[in-house]
Amino acid sequence: MLQRDATVAENPGTEPSPSVLRTASWDRIRDLFPLDSGTAHLNSGTVGVMPHDVLDTYTRVTREWTGSLANIYPPSLYPEYRAAIASDFGVAQDEMVICHNATEGMARVVAGLDFRPGDEVLTTTHECFSVLSNLNLAHNRYGVEVHKLTLPTGYDVTTEEILHLFESAITPRTRAMFFAGVTLFGGVRMPVRELCTMAQRRGIITVVDGALLPGMIDTDLRRLGVDFLVGSGSKWQCGPLGTGLLYVRNRVTPANPLPLPTFWPVISTWYPLEGAPPPRSHPDTSATNNIGDYLQSAGSASVARAAALARACEVWNLIGRSRIEERILSLGRYAKRRIAEELGPGALYSPTADERLNSPLTTFNPFRDPADAYDGMKFETLIARLEHEDRVWIRWVEFDVPGSARMRYAARFCTHLFNSEDDVDRALLAVVRLATELS
Ligand SMILES: Cc1ncc(COP(=O)(O)O)c(C=O)c1O
Repeated sequence: MLQRDATVAENPGTEPSPSVLRTASWDRIRDLFPLDSGTAHLNSGTVGVMPHDVLDTYTRVTREWTGSLANIYPPSLYPEYRAAIASDFGVAQDEMVICHNATEGMARVVAGLDFRPGDEVLTTTHECFSVLSNLNLAHNRYGVEVHKLTLPTGYDVTTEEILHLFESAITPRTRAMFFAGVTLFGGVRMPVRELCTMAQRRGIITVVDGALLPGMIDTDLRRLGVDFLVGSGSKWQCGPLGTGLLYVRNRVTPANPLPLPTFWPVISTWYPLEGAPPPRSHPDTSATNNIGDYLQSAGSASVARAAALARACEVWNLIGRSRIEERILSLGRYAKRRIAEELGPGALYSPTADERLNSPLTTFNPFRDPADAYDGMKFETLIARLEHEDRVWIRWVEFDVPGSARMRYAARFCTHLFNSEDDVDRALLAVVRLATELS
């Protein structure tokens, strides 16, 4: 087995064997990625790293169709990739779309919902601009009222606090709840299933910004009961930049017994040229209305990017998605423990005591003086020096906290399967050193 592992390491791009990857050590798995041994990449929340094999797929498929007579407008565009990826996430081909990124997916969901003036949507201030700017557009366009909650941050935050916050903000006019699967600021793994149950009890539509979920959490969308979810292909899933996933529920099931929300498949070359598409109200609508096809067929698209994303998903399956999730979360837990040891639990913005909220994103204030948490220049300098002096790649984030009028800055670590405890230790010691120098 080790010999086979070594082969993969020595010949990047060699087809990984399933049996080998399923049990390979994390050191060996790191060799699947074109990573420099002198760097610590702790920024998958911005962009992951394509494995050699995925890069090879990308260039091979590009070469295959360039200059050939390939049909770049086949019906329902790469149904086999969509079917495979859909099954990785527990759903069906007609519900899964390969799009360009999470932002595009979110824009298509917001533009596709049948909003009316006076409808309320509930969301948080800790959403990405991809959510908040699209919701503001809906506000300006349709008169939708956007109600933003500020999520709590800190070591002791609990799941129940978050659920209570949402529960107490729902009104009879709430049409939809928009929330992240994992937030990019606090690194909170949101209680998606519980929020969906809460929404369903009141007939509210759920839209999850799952940009960070693919490749991180072994996600069964059917069981979660969400109506819509968008994901990024290039972050934890380590596919090419310019890939994303858009899930649109197309079944009525026990996990989500609500009728399918009215949804307009915005940007389509497959939507009927005249007349209406078949209705979407049947309990198993796949036979009549393949909403995924309407959304997927939207002019020419990068076949190579889709192929490479599908390959990244296959590699994840070979290693084992639940195994990857366990590893990633355990590194997230390790980062939080080490930060609490070095800087005290009060330095952490990410929930730590409640394991249900743990994610591989950890945000914290590395400076001893609390006033420095408002000093964006210090954070920018620290991150730039960290990159140039220590070859450690992280990022800073800026967000609001309950009860404070001013935005806080934080350093953010993202752990992935190619990281190790050593990466976390090395990065943390360097951050603490630089923060002391900058104080
Ligand atoms: C939570 C979250 N949502 C959405 C996005 C946007 O993702 P994409 O670049 O795939 O559009 C990001 C990017 O960092 C993010 O962290």
